[in-house]
Amino acid sequence: MTATAALRAELARHYDLAPSLQAAEATRDIHAKMARVVPLADWARHAPYVIAINKLKAERDAVILAHNYMTPDIYHGIADVVGDSLQLAIEATKVRAQVIVQCGVHFMAETSKILNPAKTVLMPDMGAGCSLAESITPEGIAQMRARFPGAAVVSYVNTTAAVKAASDVCCTSSNAAQIVAAMPGDTVIMTPDQYLAQNVAKQVPHKRIVWWEGSCIVHERFTAADLRDFRAFQPDTTIIAHPECPPDVVAEADFSGSTSGIIEFVERHRPAKALLVTECSMASNIADALPEVEFVGPCNMCPYMKMITLEKVLWSLHSMTTPVEVEDSVAAKARVAVERMIALSRKAAA
Ligand code: 13P
Ligand code: SF4
Repeated sequence: MTATAALRAELARHYDLAPSLQAAEATRDIHAKMARVVPLADWARHAPYVIAINKLKAERDAVILAHNYMTPDIYHGIADVVGDSLQLAIEATKVRAQVIVQCGVHFMAETSKILNPAKTVLMPDMGAGCSLAESITPEGIAQMRARFPGAAVVSYVNTTAAVKAASDVCCTSSNAAQIVAAMPGDTVIMTPDQYLAQNVAKQVPHKRIVWWEGSCIVHERFTAADLRDFRAFQPDTTIIAHPECPPDVVAEADFSGSTSGIIEFVERHRPAKALLVTECSMASNIADALPEVEFVGPCNMCPYMKMITLEKVLWSLHSMTTPVEVEDSVAAKARVAVERMIALSRKAAA
């Protein structure tokens, strides 16, 4: 028997997980939040998992923190908190429950663990990584410090705990410009996203920003030429791009912001046609709340985010696997970088 078959057999012994229109009917208030993108027949498959997970969550004293790139069944069905990377990090500092299930990628679970060393932080799939986090190591940070002596190191939260520990401060896509502007000195090292760094350089022209050559495999695939073609074809489309996209792509957009910034922009402006230059689930998660907006794509899928499924979340809570661990001395240093970011963000917002 394969590992997946064994896991399914074990889950089937404990929970009634067969597709069920009765379960779909019992959870129709949840389905109503995604009916435009999740047909009833699909919801009948998801609903038994949603019911089982929500019950188990209470029994285990668990909360689910879910990133905006989760699929609608997770985002609307089981998440207690949804948000961008900064919001999830801030929410992680407020959790009262003993267990956090991170519906997102590994660096997000590490951040939750760094901020909550005494709690259990579960990752439904330890393979859910990130091309940015994989692109840099503490040795890379040391190389950059040697090349640019005295320059502060601002690392994106999309990094391992060890890289955070080697950095002066973290940033996310929603606060990168503020954090960089708050650094002492003329030169600031940004790692590991070269495109976020180049986009921030335009917003903070009084700093010399030097960067690591990492990139997000989802956002680097969009091209400015594609967006220009699309705009020529449908001029009434509002284009919104994530700052992990190359700068020429961001230059074609009407707005650029973090995943939550994108959601807020669409909610506020309600364009007739919106093209979200980011991960596919973003449009799906807000489509029902904004029926007047036509989401015209295209989008790219993050293969790491999509490793998180209802089945894996149920297994994670059932078996209490897999707990994320961060070595104490690494966590202590990484916590300084993350907490400094949160404090600077709060100061800028005040
Ligand atoms: P934000 O949600 O912070 O914008 O980050 C996007 C991302 O790629 C997370 O992996
Ligand atoms: Fe990493 Fe890009 Fe996926 Fe976000 S979307 S987890 S940055 S690979």
